[in-house]
Amino acid sequence: MICLGIESTAHTFGIGIVQNKTVIANEKKSYQPEKGGLHPRKTAEHHAEVCGEVLEKAINKSGIRIEEIDLIAFSQGPGLPPCLKIGAVFARTLAKKLGKPLIGVNHCVAHLEIGKLFTNAKDPVLLYASGANTQVIALESGKYRVFGETIDVGVGNMLDTFGRNKGLSFPAGPEIERLAKKGEKYVELPYTVKGMDLAFGGILTQAERVKEKMENVCHSLQETVFAMLIEVSERAMSHTQKKELILGGGVAANKRLNDMCKIMCEERGAKFYTVPKQYCVDNAAMIAWTGLKMHKSGVKTPDTRIIRNYRTDMVKITWK
Ligand code: ATP
Ligand code: FE2
Repeated sequence: MICLGIESTAHTFGIGIVQNKTVIANEKKSYQPEKGGLHPRKTAEHHAEVCGEVLEKAINKSGIRIEEIDLIAFSQGPGLPPCLKIGAVFARTLAKKLGKPLIGVNHCVAHLEIGKLFTNAKDPVLLYASGANTQVIALESGKYRVFGETIDVGVGNMLDTFGRNKGLSFPAGPEIERLAKKGEKYVELPYTVKGMDLAFGGILTQAERVKEKMENVCHSLQETVFAMLIEVSERAMSHTQKKELILGGGVAANKRLNDMCKIMCEERGAKFYTVPKQYCVDNAAMIAWTGLKMHKSGVKTPDTRIIRNYRTDMVKITWK
C-alpha cells in the first residue's frame, strides 16, 4: 500500500511517500523569513507557491506513478491556520483527482509514530523538543497523553530568541552548543519546572541580563533547560513504568542533551533512542506513515476541516 502525506503546519511544506514500511520520498521546502518570527499569511503564500514543485520532486524521487497512490494523508493540526488550510486544500484536490481516500493526521502524533518506526521502540516516552514545541508524550489508556509541556515558548525558540538578542547566527541552537563547550563556570539561572510543566521565559530574561562570559552563559543555559527536560521525562517514565525514551525535534541535534538522556536512561535501566535528523524535524514522511497506519486500522476522516488546536490526546489510538 502506498500513502502520500502532506505537511504544512508551520514553516515547512512537505510531501512524503511511504510504501508499506519504507519511505520512498521525503521532500520539502521551508519558508525562512528574512528577520523576526513566522508571519502566518506570508508562510502560507510560500506554501501555495511551492506545493506543485514539491509534489513533482517527491513523485520523481519515489519512482512510482501518481496513479499508484492508494491514500492521501495530511496534517490536520495543530498549526498556523493559513498554512494548515493550504495543505488541506491541496490534499482534498489531490484525493479527488485521484479518487482516493483522504485521512487527517495529528502532527504531534505523527512525530511519535515516525520515531517508533525508525527506532523499533515498542512503547516509548517521547521527549519532543523542537523550536515551537516542547512536550513529553506517552501512550496511556488508548491515547497519547501529554505528561508535561512548556507553558510559554518551545525550548528551541527560547534558544533562538536568546541568540538573536545576543547577535548569534540563526538558528542559534548549534552556536549556543558550540559556545557552551568552552564554558567552564555555571551561573545560577531560574529552574522552572511547575508540576510537570516547563517555563522558559524567566530563564531567557535572566540569561540575557547576567554579566558573564558568553561561553559560560551558554553552558549554564544548556545545563539548566536540559536538566528541566530530563526531570520531566524521567518523571513521566517513572509514572508510566515505561522503559524506552525517544528524543525528537530539532533540539535533539544537541550532543549534550543526548548525553543527559543517555545517562538518565542508563540509571533507570531503560533504553534510549534517537531519530534520524530528517525525521526529527517537521517532515511529511511522518504524516504519510501515520496516515497509513490509521487507515489500516479502519480510521476515517469524514470532516477534513483543519483543527488549529488539535491536541495530542484528542486522537484515539486504534493501531499498534
Ligand atoms: P516544530 O513545528 O515541529 O516545532 P520547528 O521548526 O519549531 O518545528 P525544528 O525544525 O524541529 O523546530 O527545530 C529547530 C530548532 O532546533 C531551532 O530552534 C534550533 O535552534 C534548534 N536546534 C538545532 N540544532 C540545535 C542544537 N545543536 N542544539 C540546540 N538546539 C538546536
Ligand atoms: Fe513538528
